[in-house]
Amino acid sequence: MEKGVGIIGFGRMGRAIAVGLMNRGASPYSIIVCDKEPAALQQAKILGVRIAPSMTETVLNSDLVILAVKPGDIIKVVDEISTIAENKVVISIAALIPHRTIKNRLPRSHVYRAMPNIAVEVNSGFIALTPRGEMDFEVEKFFQYLGDVVWVDEETLDMLTLISASAPALLAEIADALILAALKSGIPYAIAKKAISSLFKGTGEMLNNKSVCDIRDSVITPRGVTIRLIEKFYTHDAKSKLLEVLSHTIEEYLSMLNEARDKYK
Ligand SMILES: NC(=O)c1ccc[n+]([C@@H]2O[C@H](COP(=O)([O-])OP(=O)(O)OC[C@H]3O[C@@H](n4cnc5c(N)ncnc54)[C@H](OP(=O)(O)O)[C@@H]3O)[C@@H](O)[C@H]2O)c1
Repeated sequence: MEKGVGIIGFGRMGRAIAVGLMNRGASPYSIIVCDKEPAALQQAKILGVRIAPSMTETVLNSDLVILAVKPGDIIKVVDEISTIAENKVVISIAALIPHRTIKNRLPRSHVYRAMPNIAVEVNSGFIALTPRGEMDFEVEKFFQYLGDVVWVDEETLDMLTLISASAPALLAEIADALILAALKSGIPYAIAKKAISSLFKGTGEMLNNKSVCDIRDSVITPRGVTIRLIEKFYTHDAKSKLLEVLSHTIEEYLSMLNEARDKYK
């Protein structure tokens, strides 16, 4: 692509994407951003990316534009760029807003939805893309700089919003519980945090080619400490509670999704 990457909305995700791209060698000059929040612009200044005075300038100087504003702001943004986004690749990372809602307003743009998670900042994100179109190669290549990419149908992308995009917050809470337990057992904080970080990374890597049961069973020894830990995980209902939390959230999320599908036609 000849021009840069435009990012409209330079909040948490907009910034994470820019950092991930720069980690992979993108020049800050190739990233053009706009935001209306002074704190976000300050972040952009610190990173050294180009700050455009308006959405129009951002789009005009980009071949690929990421819409990284909150779901409630998407329509306004799309309507504002509709006359200048012709032939551009426009990728919305917003939760809830259907692809057709954006495509109807940008009929002559290559419109995609992406659902990344915040780990794009360290190039270990998981990014779901939909739907397939003429610019698949460019879009996939772009997100491969930021992590693992999968093409899915829109229904799956919407569910991955909860399972993959929100989950870093849940995993951070679980990490916190493990760190607190480590502290209680006398392990110094810095070592506990490093151990848990490494634990998440290592177990995640193993999950790529081993089943959950294989991992669990390769740690358990007869009468050992792990079998006691896992037994308590079940007898204290921790696993079923966790599943209950997830199931309730899925139900709430499904009704949010249905509301959004009705509202954003
Ligand atoms: N955070 C995540 O982990 C995550 C993961 C996957 C997907 N997403 C999606 O990514 C999108 C952004 O999320 P976020 O967490 O980065 O939100 P955020 O931190 O609130 O960032 C959005 C930024 O866009 C700005 N903005 C709003 N309207 C604008 C406009 N017309 N022109 C320029 N800038 C504008 C906001 O300013 P104001 O605050 O002043 O409105 C804010 O600074 C959301 O749609 C979300 O669903 C987020």
